[in-house]
Amino acid sequence: MFLSVIILLTFLYFVSSTCPNSSLTYKSNCYIYNSTKTGFAAAEISCTQLGGHLASIHDAFTNVVIGQEAPNYMHESTMSDLWIGATNLLTNEKWNWTDGSGFDFTDWKQKEPQNTTDSNCASMSLTGEYWTSQNCNEQKPFVCQLPSSFYTTTSYPTTPKYPLTANCSIGWSYFAPTHSCYGVNVGGYVANWAAAETYCQNNGAHLPSFHSYAEYQYLRSYYYVAWSYDLWTSIYSPDSGKTWRNSDGTPADFLDYASWCSGYPHNITGERCVLLTTTCIYDVDCTSSMGRTICKKPLFV
Ligand SMILES: *[C@@H]1O[C@H](CO)[C@@H](O)[C@H](O)[C@H]1NC(C)=O
Ligand SMILES: *[C@@H]1O[C@H](CO)[C@@H](O)[C@H](O)[C@H]1NC(C)=O
Ligand SMILES: *[C@@H]1O[C@H](CO)[C@@H](O)[C@H](O)[C@H]1NC(C)=O
Ligand SMILES: *[C@@H]1O[C@H](CO)[C@@H](O)[C@H](O)[C@H]1NC(C)=O
Ligand SMILES: *[C@@H]1O[C@H](CO)[C@@H](O)[C@H](O)[C@H]1NC(C)=O
Ligand SMILES: *[C@@H]1O[C@H](CO)[C@@H](O)[C@H](O)[C@H]1NC(C)=O
Repeated sequence: MFLSVIILLTFLYFVSSTCPNSSLTYKSNCYIYNSTKTGFAAAEISCTQLGGHLASIHDAFTNVVIGQEAPNYMHESTMSDLWIGATNLLTNEKWNWTDGSGFDFTDWKQKEPQNTTDSNCASMSLTGEYWTSQNCNEQKPFVCQLPSSFYTTTSYPTTPKYPLTANCSIGWSYFAPTHSCYGVNVGGYVANWAAAETYCQNNGAHLPSFHSYAEYQYLRSYYYVAWSYDLWTSIYSPDSGKTWRNSDGTPADFLDYASWCSGYPHNITGERCVLLTTTCIYDVDCTSSMGRTICKKPLFV
């Protein structure tokens, strides 16, 4: 079993020169359809677990191809639409792609997008390929996008030594590049840093540290689950920002992958703790109750 996983990994990352068999190759991207009906945030996380994001669409040809090819890659005959990566959850009215690319093409149906508080995520109709704004909690199939170079370069994951799938306990997601499980407090636990870290420790985990750009990206995708709250990281400073540490004891190399938000870190006396937004990190007083909680639990091989 383990050996075959290694062979599969080797195949995926070192031999294959195109997209995985069950996905659509178009231009320089692979589109991986998933028929499982899923909420928008969980769909985005599922895509980041593959190393991509929900699909972002930048021209009419791609739009038509994604819509028209969908039935060939999905097993549901009843589905009428699927999630694509457009949302305005983070940006209050301004629609963006979850992969951060420019919002330079749209194909909204007439009278869309609706400007209501519960229609913040876009789905594509499979009959006509137009988009509508929907309640993000609705369960729909979805389409992920990865650059096809992902499957031809060896740079990600750097060392394919871990299995592609593993059993995390219920409520936790496996991220292969770090061989770790990530769990989010679904109830939307907003707490101060110490309470959040204690919550994780009670679950055999810590607040999340990150040690690669891929892991940082993966954590950022949880923003969509946290409903626009910033997320606690394991990073803290016991000495007013002179030195930074990770609560899980790993090296504090976070500045290799993330950057401080403009004007940060603040030079304020006391214990400082670090929050993550979709674009940058910033420090606050550790007693502020302003972060939502994700926990990270490494699996051991
Ligand atoms: C993909 O398809 C090719 C050709 O049909 C086949 O040789 C290969 O084994 C398949 N790969 C996987 C991972 O299924
Ligand atoms: C499809 O999405 C579900 C989440 O709804 C996930 O559990 C499953 O692993 C995904 N399948 C693939 C092949 O990525
Ligand atoms: C959303 O997109 C606009 C450009 O369309 C960009 O200026 C802005 O930074 C984006 N916001 C996020 C959170 O990605
Ligand atoms: C959306 O609704 C808000 C509040 O009702 C309003 O302030 C805003 O101008 C509307 N935006 C658009 C694009 O209609
Ligand atoms: C996960 O657990 C199930 C049931 O215990 C087992 O059948 C399966 O092989 C496990 N998968 C992996 C990747 O360990
Ligand atoms: C931070 O504040 C202290 C005391 O107010 C000051 O001595 C120090 O130079 C400041 N450091 C920076 C990097 O601004």
